[in-house]
Amino acid sequence: MDAFVIHGARRLKGTATVSGSKNASLPIMAAALLSSDGELILHDVPHLSDISNMGRLLVELGCEVSHEAGPGSAGGAMRIRVVDEMNSHARYDVVRTMRASVCVLGPLLAKRGHAKVSMPGGCAIGERPIDLHLRGLEALGADVRLDSGDISVKAKKLRGARVFLGGPFGSTVLGTINVMSAATLAEGTTIIEQAACEPEVVDCADVLNAMGAHIRGAGSPRVTVEGVKELHGAEHRIIADRIEAGTLILTAAITNGDVRIENCPIDALTALLAALNDIGVSVEPENGSVNPMRATVSVSSSRRLEPTTVTTQPHPGFPTDLQAQLMALLCLADGNSIITEKIFPERFLHVAELSRMGAHLYRQGPTVVISGIKKLIGAPVMASDLRASAGLVMAGLAAKGVTTVNRVYHLDRGYEKLELKLQKLGAEIERVAGQ
Ligand code: EPZ
Repeated sequence: MDAFVIHGARRLKGTATVSGSKNASLPIMAAALLSSDGELILHDVPHLSDISNMGRLLVELGCEVSHEAGPGSAGGAMRIRVVDEMNSHARYDVVRTMRASVCVLGPLLAKRGHAKVSMPGGCAIGERPIDLHLRGLEALGADVRLDSGDISVKAKKLRGARVFLGGPFGSTVLGTINVMSAATLAEGTTIIEQAACEPEVVDCADVLNAMGAHIRGAGSPRVTVEGVKELHGAEHRIIADRIEAGTLILTAAITNGDVRIENCPIDALTALLAALNDIGVSVEPENGSVNPMRATVSVSSSRRLEPTTVTTQPHPGFPTDLQAQLMALLCLADGNSIITEKIFPERFLHVAELSRMGAHLYRQGPTVVISGIKKLIGAPVMASDLRASAGLVMAGLAAKGVTTVNRVYHLDRGYEKLELKLQKLGAEIERVAGQ
């Protein structure tokens, strides 16, 4: 297992480019299973281990998948074509490495009439049930069973229905996408209430519409899908990764850097920008940035960071996927900050590790009080979640001394060429082979 060795306390300067979104790419790749004819060509799919795992799963499910190496940090084109519909079983071996495998459930059910997907277990960020996905598919007429650890869904014909997808923690992103994808081939109209409003849902709806689906309202809490007989291939450019963009902005801020970020989806980052405004970090779009989902921004911060209070929420609220990185920044604010995690209340693996670097953190349930300190001190740290690892890399870049972030494979799941992007900004970060 590789590690990153970071010599910290250097100001980052220069330009970084945001890659295509991992969390948009994964369900969109799964949507290719719905096509009866032609290729799905996707541009800007990032080169990440989660993406190659999804590619492998699609191959097992009868697709031909290719992914070109892209120029610079842009992921090259991915091409997916269904050639064989015999196998509809996503095995435990694959699902356990990547929870997003659950996205194949809706497309397989709608196109092939049945699917088996190994029940995803809990993961490092806590319990992650799929009851809402199943409730939605049942409402469309699927028979759902649990069979030796596999979820088995079957339906001769799906029928449009009114589906409520709200749960104890709000809406569900992949659940909305699963039900929306299945509804594209159902007979009649489906209305999804309390649909997730995340930009990844909108991107997936755009692809499905380009494939011939009739979806309205994606990005709002009510999504309407008029079923069609079949879908076909299409070509699409994946949206920029809002979480990578947010991580780069926060990294610029924690190193008191002066960084330009290209392909930055500021329109999808309003809650982060509001928090940064309170903290005293400026994120200014450059003149001429006309597309707010692909803007160029300059990040700069005052030396003194103000404390703040943030609660994670479904979009457009503050994203849980930036909670660890924000916490790293607030460790250096001048006063007490409070972060409350309302999406995954156990998602705090970084707390103990940041404390090893000298942070003053007090957790009670889903809330952490962060008492700002003057300096973080480098240390060997370990995290078992993608975004927690990103928070630790940020802390290492700001800290005095040397930080070793172990188990970098978590970062490789979700950040394309992270160390190269950071090196280009002047960071002293090196990948070393683990023992
Ligand atoms: C997506 O996961 C993302 N993953 C996650 O990003 C992200 O943290 C999460 O959305 C929230 O924004 C991908 O897109 C691949 P949810 P998802 O269903 O869709 C509860 C990362 O780091 N819930 O929106 O699986 C659930 O437990 C990853 O890139 C139910 O109760 O998340 C949670 O509390 C990690 N029943 C809340 O809803 C269900 O059936 C939101 O989860 C489904 C979810």
